[in-house]
Amino acid sequence: MKIVHTIADLRAALAPFESPAFVPTMGNLHDGHLNLVRTAKPLGDVTVASIFVNRLQFAPHEDFDTYPRTLEADCAKLAPAGCDIVFAPSEKDLYPQPQGFKVHPPAELADILEGHFRPGFFTGVCTVVMKLFQCVFAEAKGPRYAVFGKKDYQQQMIIRRMVDQFALPVTVVSTETERAADGLALSSRNGYLSESERAEAVQLSLALRDLARDALAAGSSLPDHQAGLEQRALQALTARGWQPDYLTVRRRIDLQLPDAADAVTGQSLVVLGAARLGKTRLIDNFEI
Ligand code: PAF
Repeated sequence: MKIVHTIADLRAALAPFESPAFVPTMGNLHDGHLNLVRTAKPLGDVTVASIFVNRLQFAPHEDFDTYPRTLEADCAKLAPAGCDIVFAPSEKDLYPQPQGFKVHPPAELADILEGHFRPGFFTGVCTVVMKLFQCVFAEAKGPRYAVFGKKDYQQQMIIRRMVDQFALPVTVVSTETERAADGLALSSRNGYLSESERAEAVQLSLALRDLARDALAAGSSLPDHQAGLEQRALQALTARGWQPDYLTVRRRIDLQLPDAADAVTGQSLVVLGAARLGKTRLIDNFEI
C-alpha cells in the first residue's frame, strides 16, 4: 500500500490504473470505514482512501482542533482491508490557497436537519468531495466509484445530487451503517464518550426505532400525528439527560416531510436523529 501526500504524487501513483474506487474519510478509522474500503475493493482496479480532516466543514466552535488524527494506526488498518493507495494531504497540499471557490448545495437539501444545526457543513463537505474527486478521478479512463456510508445519510444523499447535477462521471455507492454489538452506530466521535456515556449511547438508536415503529403504525395518518410522535421521542431522550437536536421521519429521496401517500407503506421513509450526550454529538438513522 502506497501512502502519498500531494496531488501530484497521487496522480503519479494512479497513472497505471484505469478505474479507481474511492473512499473519502477524515481518518480515525473504525470498522465502518473499513467496510467502505471492502465495498470499494471489487469496484475498481485500484482502491484509494483519503484521510483529510477538512476545516471547511467545521464551524468555529466545533471539534476541528481536537478531531483525532491517527494516520499511522489508520494506515495499519487500511492495508489489510485492501486499500492500495492512501491519500493523506496536509491542508497546504489540498488548499494551497484559501479555498474561495466553493460548492453550495441547495438550501432545501442542505439547510435542513444536519445543515440547520451545522450551518455551512454541507458546503464544506461538497467542496472537499468535489476537490477529492478531481484529485482521484480526473485522469481515470474506466468507471469511477465513490463509496459513502448511510450513517451520514444526508451527506450521501447530497453528494448523489451533486454528482447528478454536475454530471460527474462517478457512481456513488452507499453502504449500510456498521453497529457495535449493542446497536450503537460506529462513529469516530464515539471515542469521546465516557464509560457511562458509552453505555447510554445506544438509546439514540432505540429512540429512532421507537419512532419508526410509531410512524409505521400511524400509516396514512402520519402527517397528522408526526409532530406529536417526534415530540414524544425528543422528550424520551431529554428525560434521560440527552440534548436532542432533532428526531424526525422523512422521505428517503429528498429528506422532506412525508405526505399521506408516502406514509402508507413506509417503504420510502427514513428516521433520522441527532443528539448531544454530554459534550458528544451523535447522529443515527434507519430506513423504515
Ligand atoms: O464523512 C466524512 O468523513 C467527511 O464528511 C468526508 C466525506 C470525508 C468529507 O470530508
